[in-house]
Amino acid sequence: MTADTALAELLNSRIRDVPDYPKPGVLFKDIAPLLADAEAFGALTRALADRAKELGATKVVGLEARGFVLAAPAAVAAGLGFVPIRKQGKLPGEVFRRSYELEYGSATLEVQRDAFAPGERVLVVDDVLATGGTIGASLDLVKEAGAELVGVVVLMELGFLDGRERLAGHLDGAPLETLVTV
Ligand code: PRP
Ligand code: MG
Repeated sequence: MTADTALAELLNSRIRDVPDYPKPGVLFKDIAPLLADAEAFGALTRALADRAKELGATKVVGLEARGFVLAAPAAVAAGLGFVPIRKQGKLPGEVFRRSYELEYGSATLEVQRDAFAPGERVLVVDDVLATGGTIGASLDLVKEAGAELVGVVVLMELGFLDGRERLAGHLDGAPLETLVTV
C-alpha cells in the first residue's frame, strides 16, 4: 500500500455518510469525525502543509466555512500565512467579488483587494469539490487579486459530478489534487 493510499483510507474511514441530509435523497459527507480524530486530522494537516511547501506556496487560501478548518492549520504547519475567501458581506474594506450558480439561485464570494503582496503564490484548500462552483469562483478571485495560483487541494471529490471539468478553464495549468474520491 502506498503512503497516498494509506492516507486516503484513513481519511475516508473518518468521513461519515448521513443519508437524506440536508434534504431527502442527498447523501451528506460529514467530516466531523475526521476533525475529532487527532491522528486523521493531523495526517490531513501534514499532507496539506507538505503540498503547500512542495508547490512553493507563500500563502494558503481557505474557503468559508469548512475550508477554513482545513486550510488554517495547514498554513501554520507549513510556516505560511492564511488568507480567507468569504461569503458576501463579511470582509471589511475593498473586496473583489465573484458570483456563481448553485442548484437553486446563486452565491457570492469575496477576497480583500490587498490580501496578497506582489508575486505571492497561492495554494487553495477546501473540503469538497462537488459542482466546482465554489472553487472556480475562488480561483478567479485569487488571480484577480494579483496572486499566482500554484495548486488546489481538496479533501474529497464527488466524482459523479462534473466539478473537475468545470474547473478546467480556471486552473491556468495548476494541479487540482483530491485526497479522497467518493
Ligand atoms: C460546500 C463545501 C464546498 C462546496 C462544494 O460549502 O464545503 O465548499 O459546498 O460545492 P460546489 O463544488 O458545488 O461549489 P457550502 O457553501 O455548502 O458551505 P460551508 O463550507 O460554509 O459549510
Ligand atoms: Mg464550503
